[in-house]
Amino acid sequence: MCDTHLTVSICGPMQSCAKMLTCTCNSLQPLCRLELLLHGSALLGSSQNMDAVYARTASQELANAISEDLAGHTTQGAHGLNYHHKSPGDEGTTFFMPSKSLLGEGALRGAVQQIKALGHKKALIVTDAVLVKVGAVKAATDVLTEAGIAFAIYDGCQPNPTVSQVEDGLKLVKQENCDFVLSFGGGSPHDCAKAIAITATNGGDIRAMEGVDKSTKPMLTMVAVNTTAGTGAEMTRFCIITDEVRHVKMAIVDWRVTPTLAVNDPKTMIGMPKSLTAATGMDALTHAIEAYVSTISNPVTDACALHAMKLISAYLPAAVEDGKDLKARDMMAYAEFLAGMAFNSASLGYVHAMAHQLGGMYNLPHGVCNAILLGPVQEYNAKYVPHLFIDIAGALGFSVGEDKDLAVKKVLKAIKDLKNRVGIPKNLKAFKEVKVEHFPALADNAMKDACGLTNPHQPTKDEVIALFQAAYDQEDDEADELEMLQKQLSAAAARCKDVAALKKAMCELYTK
Ligand SMILES: NC(=O)c1ccc[n+]([C@@H]2O[C@H](COP(=O)([O-])OP(=O)(O)OC[C@H]3O[C@@H](n4cnc5c(N)ncnc54)[C@H](O)[C@@H]3O)[C@@H](O)[C@H]2O)c1
Ligand SMILES: [Fe+2]
Repeated sequence: MCDTHLTVSICGPMQSCAKMLTCTCNSLQPLCRLELLLHGSALLGSSQNMDAVYARTASQELANAISEDLAGHTTQGAHGLNYHHKSPGDEGTTFFMPSKSLLGEGALRGAVQQIKALGHKKALIVTDAVLVKVGAVKAATDVLTEAGIAFAIYDGCQPNPTVSQVEDGLKLVKQENCDFVLSFGGGSPHDCAKAIAITATNGGDIRAMEGVDKSTKPMLTMVAVNTTAGTGAEMTRFCIITDEVRHVKMAIVDWRVTPTLAVNDPKTMIGMPKSLTAATGMDALTHAIEAYVSTISNPVTDACALHAMKLISAYLPAAVEDGKDLKARDMMAYAEFLAGMAFNSASLGYVHAMAHQLGGMYNLPHGVCNAILLGPVQEYNAKYVPHLFIDIAGALGFSVGEDKDLAVKKVLKAIKDLKNRVGIPKNLKAFKEVKVEHFPALADNAMKDACGLTNPHQPTKDEVIALFQAAYDQEDDEADELEMLQKQLSAAAARCKDVAALKKAMCELYTK
């Protein structure tokens, strides 16, 4: 918080120590004072002195001073201190994370060393045929071979993985005597691998795991090597599997499906095409916004969510426009991880509850469904929690003071602008397979999805149908569209060093 406390040494008899602490603390900023008092309490340890410390840290004077001190901070300020949800019970708040996460260039190599240290001998690599075909999986198999770890490959996983794909992978894990699972790819291979790893140890059918914490035993060790940015699936306790018979995406929310190691190396993300970068980036933005307005958010998830929003709004256009921009890829990897940290504990809302139904019924890309639903659902939420949009607006780069209506307006426009800037279709109408007459059935299933439980307000079935309809119909202002095209063109002009490169970029813009 502040360097000053580093210069204070604590020594001598306890009484004088306490005196020295109090006197030194009074000359510091309130936050440093609190930190010192807490450090001091740990060091002093005696109950006599602890009472004084507790009394001091609980004083209204200090609380007021801290409020003032934090008021200007977006990520730790107004929202964190004027915390908007009561604690959800009498057992505290749980924060879920993988035991180890490796981020940045070289993370894949680091992860394999960790597996070796754990003593594992043979991996089932869960991936998809595209990633095998383009040679991306070889990056993982080469490092495994170098480390002397054997592997078998299951590449039957497809976008929106299904129950039968999980069953095929499960057969292979047993047949090949694999002692751990390594997922390589985006959210689909991670979810498929989680389902394989949990049913391998718990037995039974993955369908029986739908809901919250249904497992009774730990899953096989799982390493999730992420190649999109993203779903956050490489580090979450969520596992989304399509039941192809019911046409629904099941939400399996279970702390035991949290991967053991999460790996985010931006170099494995360079090959993502523009449309995938855009869709997965908008998925991450949806995670951050839904986690922030969730009824069970807490100051830790809020900080992660707001910083994720900041990074995504700053770097997603650059990552889409120039996939080789390693800084943009790196920042998006951090952003999706932060958004994952937020929703893994705060959960999600109706954007995901509804997007899962579109994915289950029409097999549409998850990130695209979220991007199209995000505006209409947040417009609905803003009627109930408009004050929460003040910090969201700040994170997206707008200064709105205390004006919540202005904040809502800015956030809704920013969502639309970012979605258009990265080339996501305007509405659900753009997909021929989406039929208005399916909306009542989709709404029924959305209302059963576990992700909707933490939405800031529970909609009625008619309201959910109306939200699908709004996402189906939404259009853009011509003026907004013009502004967006101008922004895309000037970004391309700034990036391209010669006429040929600029022409190529413009062609890409117009054909996307
Ligand atoms: N478990 C969770 O916490 C969670 C959260 C959000 C979404 N999801 C799920 O994740 C799935 C979507 O995952 P996704 O959006 O990451 O995509 P994906 O895993 O479905 O992959 C989409 C396509 O992108 C390709 N691809 C992946 N990485 C690539 C790369 N680096 N370069 C080129 N191509 C690449 C794949 O081969 C595939 O064809 C959905 O099923 C969704 O429900 C899970
Ligand atoms: Fe998602």
